[in-house]
Amino acid sequence: MLIRPMTTEDVPTAEAISADAFHALDLSRRRPADPEPQRRAPANAAGWIARTEKFVATDPGGCWVAEDDDGVLGFATSLRREDVWCLATFAVRPGHQGGGIGSRLLAAATAYGVGCERGMLAASDDPRATRSYHRAGFRLHPQLTLTGTVDRSALPAVTGLRDGVPDDLGWMDDLDRSLRGGPHGPDHEPLMGISRLVVAADRSGYAYTNTGGPGLIAARDEATARTLLWECLAGTEGRAEVAHVTVANDWAVDVGIAARLDLATRGYLGLRGMAPPAPYVHHGAVL
Ligand SMILES: CC(C)(COP(=O)(O)OP(=O)(O)OC[C@H]1O[C@@H](n2cnc3c(N)ncnc32)[C@H](O)[C@@H]1OP(=O)(O)O)[C@@H](O)C(=O)NCCC(=O)NCCS
Repeated sequence: MLIRPMTTEDVPTAEAISADAFHALDLSRRRPADPEPQRRAPANAAGWIARTEKFVATDPGGCWVAEDDDGVLGFATSLRREDVWCLATFAVRPGHQGGGIGSRLLAAATAYGVGCERGMLAASDDPRATRSYHRAGFRLHPQLTLTGTVDRSALPAVTGLRDGVPDDLGWMDDLDRSLRGGPHGPDHEPLMGISRLVVAADRSGYAYTNTGGPGLIAARDEATARTLLWECLAGTEGRAEVAHVTVANDWAVDVGIAARLDLATRGYLGLRGMAPPAPYVHHGAVL
């Protein structure tokens, strides 16, 4: 078994491993009220590949694969953004899990974060993942998820927001530095490619969102965060999901419940050297 740096050529294989591993996990941990888990759709696979190719370009020291004579069996991608190291994705091919491959990959990825005071990751409920992260020194903060169809009669009139433009990225990065210790920097470009960027006109916060719900919300104050979340919910079509809400962000629970979404727990925000950011709803990969 060889642990070696990931190359651009590995990315489609890594995508397939990730889609299979998370689909298998979703099937195994499905709760009775959950919809039937679906393997990642081809349109989303293209976005995953584009984003991961960028990680390989910006953070070659943080992206690793495990390979044997049968080919690539697992991978871990991670990034450093000033004081914060983030684990973007981590998966081992189903059928090869539980044999120590993941531990070796995570060791390579976390070594890239040495020197960063802070660390962040969005953990699945897989006990192999939570055990690995705890061992690596991460505190695991339960995540809440709100799902359902937004009650449109509950939507308030929202003011003070506008669509974001590239000129906004500077103050957005400063806001991220204050909230989590590092900017999103090069991670904005892929987010802007697949999501709508909405910002507070007074520069007090921003959100990336699409028709399924918000991907990331960062704000200086709770009032702005609530306004941004309502705007995200107004743009949803069909089933909406507000994922990655920590208990430090119960403003998001207030809004989700008021929109008649259902509350459940799913996964953990793993943190090292920092408390859960707020008002903040992290992104699953770029945190
Ligand atoms: C999470 C994952 C990447 C870990 O890789 P892996 O090769 O399966 O993990 P390892 O074999 O190195 O085991 C990791 C830890 O889990 C333990 N473990 C192994 N099998 C286990 C099982 N069935 N139940 C509980 N713990 C188990 C190992 O002993 C090890 O813990 P230790 O270091 O304290 O001894 C892999 O299981 C996976 O792809 N899961 C699905 C996708 C996922 O959840 N990814 C993480 C996203 S946050």
